[in-house]
Amino acid sequence: MCGIFGYVTSDEENLGPILIEAAKRLTYRGYDSVGAATLNNGKVDLRKDVGKVEDVSAKYNFAEMRGSRGITQLRWATFGEPSQINAQPHIDSDGDLVGAHNGNVVNNVELRQQFIDEGMTVRSQNDGETCVHGVERYLNRGYEFIDAIRLAYGDLQGDYAFVIGRANDDKLYAFKKGSGMVVGIGDGFTCVSSDLPSILPLTRKIVRPQDGEIVTLWSDRVEVRSVKDGRVIERKPEFVTESMDAVQKGGYPHFMLKEIHEQPQVARELLHLLDGSPEVENLVEKMKKARHLYFVACGTSYHAALIGSVYFAQIAGRPAIPVLAPQFIAQYAPAVGYEDVGVFVSQSGETKDVLNALEAAEKRGMASYGLANVIGSTLTKATSFCLPLCCGYEISVPATKTFTNQVITFLYLAYRMAGRDTRELEKIPELMEATMDATSSQVESIAKDINQWNDMYCLGYGATFPIALEGALKLKEITYAHCEGMLSTEFKHGPLSAVSKGFPIIFVAGPNDVPLIISGVNEVKVRGARTIVIAEDDPRLRANADDVIALPKSDANISPLLGVLPLQMLSYHMSVMRGFDPDFPRNLSKTLTVD
Ligand code: AGP
Repeated sequence: MCGIFGYVTSDEENLGPILIEAAKRLTYRGYDSVGAATLNNGKVDLRKDVGKVEDVSAKYNFAEMRGSRGITQLRWATFGEPSQINAQPHIDSDGDLVGAHNGNVVNNVELRQQFIDEGMTVRSQNDGETCVHGVERYLNRGYEFIDAIRLAYGDLQGDYAFVIGRANDDKLYAFKKGSGMVVGIGDGFTCVSSDLPSILPLTRKIVRPQDGEIVTLWSDRVEVRSVKDGRVIERKPEFVTESMDAVQKGGYPHFMLKEIHEQPQVARELLHLLDGSPEVENLVEKMKKARHLYFVACGTSYHAALIGSVYFAQIAGRPAIPVLAPQFIAQYAPAVGYEDVGVFVSQSGETKDVLNALEAAEKRGMASYGLANVIGSTLTKATSFCLPLCCGYEISVPATKTFTNQVITFLYLAYRMAGRDTRELEKIPELMEATMDATSSQVESIAKDINQWNDMYCLGYGATFPIALEGALKLKEITYAHCEGMLSTEFKHGPLSAVSKGFPIIFVAGPNDVPLIISGVNEVKVRGARTIVIAEDDPRLRANADDVIALPKSDANISPLLGVLPLQMLSYHMSVMRGFDPDFPRNLSKTLTVD
């Protein structure tokens, strides 16, 4: 997830050290490239490249950069590969405007083409540059800066925060849509950033701009205006008292909890991005023509591949083979060829098992595409193209937001394969929010009840089967208890003998599977099990199960996705109750680069 920081003071000074420190405090968001620009007396000094803050700032001597205003940006690639030209900040055609953004401008490709057609100098593929030209377009037409921004705001679709300045000026301007942004007011300076950690060591007096607002920053004051009509909005500054550690975790005690709560927002951003992506159409066409379709992944990403194959069959009538990456090599690689398509799914894009499978597929000439969160990772470079998962940096080892965005991507692709209207999926983020609100406290109390058990089952059927596997994996990963995920109908074929009094069995039920789940519930309940059902509310389930964790009403495709949220929360609470750190479970690492 990119991060921006802008700083305004009254006279020219050595801003390099301030920008370097601010950039370092943005690194926890994840990044691949770094840049800094200073503005003074009609001149812009711009330095940037791919690499770590320490390396890039040393190589280009950021420390010597001087100016009365400065911008630094850490880039996490989405539009355009990680490269020096795509790194931010960006300048306009004649180099007197400089700006940087975080987030995604989803109509980047169309706008870039318009700017080229209008004769502007477009140097990169990056959507941060698109924001700069978006303002340049209206300045060229004679508008005042604020009005140019108001018009650009209407053109730039997506979720982003943006800061821009002009060389011959004494201000910076910032605006946002969908992404976070915070403004700081200090003694003799003002600053703006994607979030608080880069501001707090400088000042604790802050202003929080809202979507549809433009902030003008002078060295001694800030002014907030409405994009809609340009009028000034009164906004009283507030004082932040939280510690730096708490701020980095967004006020949550662990990154995992923060990332669980980020899911609705990253889902919203992903859906916008998919709507605006020309690569989606390309991938859908390739998959439609494929002889066989393979979804290849490991761990949590494999569970997303599994539910993807359910969606493809049920929604688009298109069978797809979900396969664990090493098993792809052992089982399918000898049989695949150029008529087949493989979608390789990986949060990190670096999982060795997945890269090995990709290599085996490519040796056979199979067309290979990717779904990855870390753009610039090996998977994104080795596949024909890779759809971004758009989650920002996922710090906690247990994957949460990357899983739900993988599932949403598969659901979206299945809709496109079937020619269905993807606007039906726009309700997902609100449903995720409603699920968290409705289930959080009940889940915490169930976690207390079952926490003494070190053995349990999580059962599902159809589209909830992969969710049951994922819930079981989360529980194992961070509570160190044994939890087996299984198809609910298989339980009677053996594991039933393990049931004793109070033995916890969690069922995840789709709206069409209620009668079947009721049979399963009763089968184990009469043998003493504690039955917990995660499903849309249904009096038949309430009449049979010990606990019903009720999901908001949706449909048979979306409900399973919602069902994973209480399972993530259950694992989280049990892990914390056991005194473990859910972010960094023992023996595990976030990226598995070994065979
Ligand atoms: C998920 O919680 C795990 N940390 C793990 O199963 C992970 O999903 C797996 O190692 C695959 O990682 P990837 O998505 O980065 O390829």
